[in-house]
Amino acid sequence: MRPLFWLATALIPAVMAEDGLDGWLRYAPLPDKIAKCYAKSIPSQVTVLGATDGLPLASAVKELKLGLKGILGKEVDISDEGCMGGETPSILLSTLENYVSVCGDLDDPPELDEDGFYFNTKDGNVVILGSNERATLYGTFEYLSRLAQARFEPVEYVDNPEANIRWGNHWDNMDYTTSTHGSIERGYAGVSIFFKDNKIRDDLSRVEQYARLLSSIRINAIVINNVNANPITLTDENLAGVGRIADLFRPYGVQVALSLNFASPVELGDLDTFDPLDEDVVRWWDGMVDKIYGVVPDLAGFLNKANSEGQPGPLTYNRTLAEGANLMARPAARHGGIFMFRAFVYDHHLDHRDWYNDRANAAVDFFKHHDGEFEDNVVVQIKYGPIDFQVREPPSTLFANLRHTPVAVELQVTQEYLGQQNHLFYLTPLWRDILDFDLRVDGEESYVRDVVSGKRFGHKLGGYAAVINVGMDRNWLGSHLAMSNLYAYGRIAWDSSSDSVDVVEDWTRLTFGLDRGVIDTVAEMSMLSWPMYENYTGNLGVQTLTDILHTHYGPNPASQDNNGWGQWTRANRYSIGMDRTVWNGTGYAGQYPAEVAERFEHIETTPDNLLLWFHHVPYTHVLKSGKTVIQHFYDAHYDGAEAAQTLVPMWESLKGRFDDERYEHMLHRLVYQAGHAIVWRDAVNYFYHNLSGIEDEAGRVGSHPWRIEVEDMELDGYERVAVTPPSTASRFYAVEAAANATVATATATLGFPAGTYRLAVNYYDLPDGQASYEVFINGEEVAAWEGDYDLYLGNTKSEFLDGHSAARRWLGEVTIAEGDELKIVGRPDGIERAPLDYVVFLPEGVVD
Ligand code: GCU
Repeated sequence: MRPLFWLATALIPAVMAEDGLDGWLRYAPLPDKIAKCYAKSIPSQVTVLGATDGLPLASAVKELKLGLKGILGKEVDISDEGCMGGETPSILLSTLENYVSVCGDLDDPPELDEDGFYFNTKDGNVVILGSNERATLYGTFEYLSRLAQARFEPVEYVDNPEANIRWGNHWDNMDYTTSTHGSIERGYAGVSIFFKDNKIRDDLSRVEQYARLLSSIRINAIVINNVNANPITLTDENLAGVGRIADLFRPYGVQVALSLNFASPVELGDLDTFDPLDEDVVRWWDGMVDKIYGVVPDLAGFLNKANSEGQPGPLTYNRTLAEGANLMARPAARHGGIFMFRAFVYDHHLDHRDWYNDRANAAVDFFKHHDGEFEDNVVVQIKYGPIDFQVREPPSTLFANLRHTPVAVELQVTQEYLGQQNHLFYLTPLWRDILDFDLRVDGEESYVRDVVSGKRFGHKLGGYAAVINVGMDRNWLGSHLAMSNLYAYGRIAWDSSSDSVDVVEDWTRLTFGLDRGVIDTVAEMSMLSWPMYENYTGNLGVQTLTDILHTHYGPNPASQDNNGWGQWTRANRYSIGMDRTVWNGTGYAGQYPAEVAERFEHIETTPDNLLLWFHHVPYTHVLKSGKTVIQHFYDAHYDGAEAAQTLVPMWESLKGRFDDERYEHMLHRLVYQAGHAIVWRDAVNYFYHNLSGIEDEAGRVGSHPWRIEVEDMELDGYERVAVTPPSTASRFYAVEAAANATVATATATLGFPAGTYRLAVNYYDLPDGQASYEVFINGEEVAAWEGDYDLYLGNTKSEFLDGHSAARRWLGEVTIAEGDELKIVGRPDGIERAPLDYVVFLPEGVVD
């Protein structure tokens, strides 16, 4: 049940158009009543000790001035002298060390870890003492966040991070246009904020804005270039540009890091080998790393993807992964740098015919025997699951198998397999699911979160990396609501016990204001999003059933199998699932410590939601829920798609409660999602229905009484086309205009009973063309639209009629009588030959 909205209009300040650029750092004015009541109790003086231009303390002052002005309309005086206990109430900002050296020892000094801070708002003063400058800035952002959320109660606490590695990764390519996946690999919000045309951008103004956002969520380093690294990042000219980028991040305490290409000595230097044991290669890297640190002395370090998906690495020369990592880690260590080495090493030409092959085994197979061989500054960066950012995976077994090597978990803020920011997906619950998993190493508590923080195996280093991939879109991630994931990433990397609902509520207050109705609704939508998406994409641990060969976006269950990529489901006519047991399968379950291995080895003790991850079972296998696997598929897809419909009215209930600009932007996406969820539902259900030949007990799959297949209409200028994969068209066929200059029509006589219906049309929206369409009933135009989703949705585009381009337009209500004539006119544009799939007249309450 959703709570009734609390709406006290008097408390809602004037609504201004917003584009999302400020993210959660809007410093929006508090409602007048609140501001008037509290502004006076906030000190009017800021005392900052030891601030230097261009460093975080100076930014803290800047943010405070901006924030207090914005939130409370308050101006402050700045002083660079003073200690606690002075006569005038003040907001005191300093590092702890500097405070002690200026003001003397504290009676009860706070215990601060690296990046931790002390925060006290008792006694009419505000004291923020950081373990270093950026920690003081974190404390300042904390203070402003509390004010913006109208949290005025006096508090005193120490806030230390759980982990010292809290990095962002960017998969930004140097090349603006021609790389395989566009300017940002798996980025869905425009082009890179860093690079253009193989150079660093001249105008880096977005970088500075980004630095503020990252700092406010306590991200301490950012890898700016793609793990599929282009060696030219290291040319003199580009390094100078990296220096400019670092200069913009530095004031916010965010250190820059770089992805390195292992073959750089050959590609960029003039060596004819990149063998890590070759002396010239060693010398080359030593020189290069020194040079990089010469430009960016506080570089956080490096990231490397070696011997994976075509990237070069030490295995090319039969050298070990440890030898490869150490090659670049050693010179980095001399400069205090960290070397993040990705565990994503696997063979993508695996023979799928071999029952015992399993890509999931790769990380442990490749890394376990090198545990202890890495230099101290090497941190192995492990994707959360053993495959690749799927909608549900168990945690990677590698977390339990490296005891002598620090590790970091790799998460994704960018929603590569999770709807590419066109579908709402709030990620915190998924992350918490992984981090809270107890691996039971040696039969003892071994939560993934304690492994990555370094606590479990006693490492100083460790933590978090997330692929963020914001782009030049004004709202950073393409969708306003997707920004809760970036915010949440920072909160989780700092404190993995942060509650999913609390985090999204805080973010909502900062992003949309204090209206309780908005907070509750956004939280409810967010918490629905993972189960919903899992329901209409891939269930029971079978993975996201998207097209893994191409876009990773729309449905294509068949693409998982019969190729070398190893994201197999092993679906056949009778059965489905990867047998990862030790007794009969790939043995992956046995890579977990004994207690967990035992649990996943047996069907009875494997939770339903990971059943197909670990076991191969008949479609008729009965789950713990009492349903068969196939019926669960059908039901889950219907439930998920139906739940997606509810997001629209929930969002609509918020109209007028914040600016229209962000409201409308999100509404478009949610309406699109409601349609695409039905595409997903049908594509997956048709696929397994055909494959298994098993009927849906509820009789829904393949039965669509309210649809009119356009290929069955009377066609003039349109021709019927087979769609690939077939299940991404209703009844497997669609129509397209015969040529791109033909105005085409489809006509039918309606046989539905007289009444009012919700009209919708499923069609395909291709890039490079905006076909236009008109719908007539008895010669009267009732609706029109253009195929322009491609212009404002950020997903990876497809030029074909398939599950990525399949979309729905909701065309409002129409009143019809039996025997009325329906006519659709399509006008092609570019490659978009006005493709249509079906028309649906939905009676009240029907979702189809
Ligand atoms: C996925 C993703 C690639 C990426 C790779 C990686 O496979 O689709 O685009 O390069 O992961 O993490 O390295």
